[in-house]
Amino acid sequence: MKGGAQGWRFGMGDVQIFPGPRHRAPLKRPVWIIVLVSMVSLFLVCAYVYPPQSGTACYLFSSRGCKALSDWLPPAPAREFTDSEIASRIVIREILSAPPVKSKTSKIAFMFLTPGQLPFEKLWEKFFNGHEGKFSVYVHASNNKPVHVSRYFVNRDIRSERVIWGKISMIDAERRLLANAMQDPDNQHFVLLSDSCIPLHKFDYVYNYLLYTNVSFLDCFYDPGPHGNGRYSEHMLPEVEIKDFRKGAQWFSMKRQHAMIVLADSLYYSKFRDYCKHGMDGGKNCIADEHYLPTFFHMIDPQGIANWSVTNVDWSERKWHPKSYKAHDVTRELIKNLTSIDVSVHVTSEEKSLDVDEQPCIWNGIQRPCYLFARKFHPETLDNLLQLFSSNYTAR
Ligand SMILES: *[C@@H]1O[C@H](CO)[C@@H](O)[C@H](O)[C@H]1NC(C)=O
Ligand SMILES: *[C@@H]1O[C@H](CO)[C@@H](O)[C@H](O)[C@H]1NC(C)=O
Ligand SMILES: *[C@@H]1O[C@H](CO)[C@@H](O)[C@H](O)[C@H]1NC(C)=O
Ligand SMILES: *[C@@H]1O[C@H](CO)[C@@H](O)[C@H](O)[C@H]1NC(C)=O
Repeated sequence: MKGGAQGWRFGMGDVQIFPGPRHRAPLKRPVWIIVLVSMVSLFLVCAYVYPPQSGTACYLFSSRGCKALSDWLPPAPAREFTDSEIASRIVIREILSAPPVKSKTSKIAFMFLTPGQLPFEKLWEKFFNGHEGKFSVYVHASNNKPVHVSRYFVNRDIRSERVIWGKISMIDAERRLLANAMQDPDNQHFVLLSDSCIPLHKFDYVYNYLLYTNVSFLDCFYDPGPHGNGRYSEHMLPEVEIKDFRKGAQWFSMKRQHAMIVLADSLYYSKFRDYCKHGMDGGKNCIADEHYLPTFFHMIDPQGIANWSVTNVDWSERKWHPKSYKAHDVTRELIKNLTSIDVSVHVTSEEKSLDVDEQPCIWNGIQRPCYLFARKFHPETLDNLLQLFSSNYTAR
């Protein structure tokens, strides 16, 4: 242990802040040893807690001493990245560090993922009306071509393919929507919506909420239970470790940089395509659209995502499917309730302790209502919603 000896030597020489007893009578041997041992322990703690790069505590003594100590301590075990990981990381880093694309008029892309007909086109029309130039609409209808009843939706269908719930075809459809919407350089934020989604506020409120922040509203939480980490497969190693596995609702909104990263990714996408699926490892039912983006963004840009989705859904009945609103449920009070929620709740799937995690919704440093959209609404709620939109929706 050559380095060890060196560490000791530097340690002794550098510690000057204790009063030097040189001119006094030498200390008695046991006291001297205690002082020496304490100093060295303090030093080791310093080197461990503050690695030499950060150097805060080391500064107290001297960088020379800490360097020697860190040489002596075992290096942190680091995994060697694969070629595709190195390539992927550099692409992602470059995209994240590039300044956001500036355009004259920033638009929001509203991307509808639907099996067919969109029952709330009339409501969305009220929402979009008067805000031309600030939004664009894209429709991915995976089963039947919808007959559009609103001018904002006519000719907005993109080429689509069959989507099967819980399969990778869901992610493929999301990427297809993003790729189409990215073609318009004015689109700065991308919202994924379903046929049962409704807006909860007037357009300006939504526009300002999404554009005047620098995060993507992507739902992401840690679920150690069977429907969270229980779905993880070790086939995803080495790139995706179980400690990074996350869960979240599919309905995201993301900024342009993040949309670009999703389109650029093939490494992590293929891991989830191949190993996050029904019947994996003889029975795991992994659902790619609940895990791919939350896990991916948790790994590559955790500070860049809000960790909640701006689309509300009510799971409080704790059934296999969320609450679905019928005509009689849609009242002024319901809209008021949904728009006043300002904490996001995540329920994990552990059997014993149904762990509920509540986080305030923080937007640019202030707590604000979490939700701009909500689901799932039955088509029969349209008339009530149209009425409420005119009188009870807020614009700011
Ligand atoms: C977002 O902006 C805030 C300040 O406005 C900044 O502190 C933060 O680092 C930014 N986050 C990202 C992901 O760019
Ligand atoms: C989202 O959660 C991660 C931890 O999982 C955290 O590091 C990050 O700061 C959170 N994002 C925001 C915007 O608070
Ligand atoms: C609205 O919230 C209040 C208070 O939590 C609750 O008592 C009421 O039942 C809710 N109403 C609707 C329509 O959800
Ligand atoms: C909702 O609209 C009604 C009129 O239809 C009005 O009396 C009420 O104050 C409105 N409520 C809110 C919260 O805007």
